[in-house]
Amino acid sequence: MRKLPFTAEKLEEIASAHPTPFHIYDEAAIRANAERLRAAFAWNPGFREYFAVKAAPNPYLVKILSEYGFGCDCSSLPELVISERCGVTGERIMFTSNDTPAEEFAKARALGAVVNLDDISHIPFLEKVCGIPELVCCRFNPGPLKEGNAIIGKPEEAKYGFTRDQIFEGYKMLKAKGAKRFGIHTMVASNELNPEYFIETCAMLFGLAREIEAAAGITFEFCNIGGGIGIPYKPGQRPVDMERVSAGAKAEYEKHFAGHPPVALYLECGRMVTGPYGYLVSRVRHIKDTYRKYAGLDATMADLMRPALYGAYHEIVVPAKKDVPASETYDVTGSLCENNDKFAIARKLPPLAPGDLVVICDAGAHGHAMGFNYNGKLRSAELLLRPDGSVVQIRRAETMDDYFATLDFSGLEGFV
Ligand SMILES: Cc1ncc(COP(=O)(O)O)c(C=O)c1O
Repeated sequence: MRKLPFTAEKLEEIASAHPTPFHIYDEAAIRANAERLRAAFAWNPGFREYFAVKAAPNPYLVKILSEYGFGCDCSSLPELVISERCGVTGERIMFTSNDTPAEEFAKARALGAVVNLDDISHIPFLEKVCGIPELVCCRFNPGPLKEGNAIIGKPEEAKYGFTRDQIFEGYKMLKAKGAKRFGIHTMVASNELNPEYFIETCAMLFGLAREIEAAAGITFEFCNIGGGIGIPYKPGQRPVDMERVSAGAKAEYEKHFAGHPPVALYLECGRMVTGPYGYLVSRVRHIKDTYRKYAGLDATMADLMRPALYGAYHEIVVPAKKDVPASETYDVTGSLCENNDKFAIARKLPPLAPGDLVVICDAGAHGHAMGFNYNGKLRSAELLLRPDGSVVQIRRAETMDDYFATLDFSGLEGFV
């Protein structure tokens, strides 16, 4: 069973001060993981992880990660603002967006972010909106040249990035328009657990970079292989061996860039940075026994959409019953009027009762962040378990006033 960073007693104490449901992040584990990632790639002088802010857009988490030299991978204006408010600016921001509005390019440029273009048509658009920056990057979509995986799909069906022909054309165009410094990006997997996949991605991107350099007369400063490093959601799965990825990336680097000026290797991971270190904590509200047994929680898919969206597996632990045999089979549900509002289907758990605290694991990335308000569900709080055992609230729960803040009920008077 999963080892949690809190005992059953400690969790009850936290839940007595902070009403469920809430997300809680383990700061010590996030820090240790960040340090390990940094150390794994120390061979590459310019190495940087740009934390994918979309995975956990909480400034407290961004601030912690920035202490390890992490930048921010941003995809929207609010994410750029989070990064700015955390003091992460300039080339410590990678702006990887798609279908981008003018004001977002303008904000990225104003912050001095690295602009990572998603499409060849964005080159004249960017030029018109705010000029071509000195440093620029393009996103490569290898199409049928590379297999994707279940979550990201086949690259040729993905909306992201330039085709092979377009990317050669794009860099020539950017150079002609005055760009002087260049990087290249790709991201072709999501939640991938095979380390070899990322090494192959390095080989593909490094090789392409050299071909583009020769054809366009430019020199690359960085290669960004994106995020997509998976985490072991299911029992029996193993985390990606980042030391193996690093060693393989180094071998490819030496093969492709011998005698070349230094090229920085960039990652933009979200899931593997915070995912395993965040937990959704909820109480059992009702036990329902009909055609199946249902454990109804006070959390819903509005707090964690992955199971409903992708059929994703999240381990569920009942800390106070960790020594009780998992003798019952439950669908673990939320209260949304959607039958896929289930955190688990036919899951073996100890017998549950109303009031039991349950912990849904691996909710630290693409968890709270994907929250929504359907059925009038209010988004939960986020807490941080600090290394000294204290707990701080890093985002309060939404209130009904938040929910109604975009409505003007006074306009109803005399409306019909
Ligand atoms: C462009 C880009 N970079 C990085 C990420 C982060 O992916 P992950 O959290 O799987 O590492 C995503 C995820 O959607 C993405 O779209």
